[in-house]
Amino acid sequence: MNVIIRGQTRPYRTVTFDANRNAVLLIEQRLLPHQFEIAATRDFRETAAAIRDMIVRGAGAIGAAAAYGLAQGARAFRGRDLKKFSRHVEQVYDTLQSARPTAVDPVNAMNDVRHAMRRGKSVEEQQAIALAAAEEFANEDVQHCEQIGRHGAKLICNGTRILTHCNAGWLAFVDVGSATAPIYAAQAAGKKFHVFCDETRPRSQGATLTAWELAQQGISHEVIADNAAGHLMQRGEIDLVIVGSDRTLGRTGEVANKIGTYTKAVLAKRHGIPFYVAIPLSTIDWKLKSGFDIPIEERHESEVLGAWGAISNRQSGRRAYVRVANPTSGARNPGFDVTPAELITGVITPAGIFKPQELWKCRRALGFGG
Ligand code: MRU
Repeated sequence: MNVIIRGQTRPYRTVTFDANRNAVLLIEQRLLPHQFEIAATRDFRETAAAIRDMIVRGAGAIGAAAAYGLAQGARAFRGRDLKKFSRHVEQVYDTLQSARPTAVDPVNAMNDVRHAMRRGKSVEEQQAIALAAAEEFANEDVQHCEQIGRHGAKLICNGTRILTHCNAGWLAFVDVGSATAPIYAAQAAGKKFHVFCDETRPRSQGATLTAWELAQQGISHEVIADNAAGHLMQRGEIDLVIVGSDRTLGRTGEVANKIGTYTKAVLAKRHGIPFYVAIPLSTIDWKLKSGFDIPIEERHESEVLGAWGAISNRQSGRRAYVRVANPTSGARNPGFDVTPAELITGVITPAGIFKPQELWKCRRALGFGG
């Protein structure tokens, strides 16, 4: 999407690859919206660290970063012994996979790359295929998001007031985004509407990333405190909820997404407001049989006990952490929750909009086993 920096507009992807330097290039998301910087990781361990430390975050974006990281690791191997090469690739895979547990996209993305690599008869061939397959994953991620936009845009009319949670925007993917795709498609169709961005504590991806994205695109929006959505729903000020997902179970239709999503789904049901989840195919987990089996990331308590922001004085732009909570108190910090299928009106996919309970029946159309 376009980014305006010092008055200049330029298109960027969240994740790209520099083949000459064998480096993964990432928009440094921890600095946004106060600074725009590109980070380059020099080897697969740095790429895994960038995923773990959330330089890059969001299901599709960490999927692409893992796919490129696998290619990066494969390309760094020196030698011709295929057995040693395979062992090395396994190690790269395990390192990248363990960086963050909840999103399934990195696993699906790296499985695609590894599967494609089997066609190569030599180390050199497999290295070349790995990069081509990672590029293919990244390009498909963009196409899927565009298709989500085409299907989802019909849910948005002139005057619709949309609530979204966290950032399932283009920063969470390679480009375009999942929950934001219908929003950008509706804007391109000339519709006028308004978006409420849940602040999304503790890391505030809604207040920082989604609000920044929508501002860059000139979309009418406001940030609301996480606790404000129920009040706005009760007063009839929200017409539609669209969120993303880090793992959607193909067998049950349960949706893992940023902590607080479940609360919003319960509230939407209470108020009869349609609640949609937008996902590319890489977010579907066809294996797990229950949402209780989804690994939920537990993050450091410092995220709950304080907050990062820019200091608004003469040193404007400098980021700082401030302690908010009582100094002697600890915190629990689950990063994600699971929303049951019965609270979800529809799942917007590149293949169309489905009831969450229909995903398994429609698995062929959704790319499973195809
Ligand atoms: O912890 P994050 O920022 O990587 O969380 C992921 C998310 O941004 C959300 O859960 C999002 O809604 C789904 S990712 C497309």
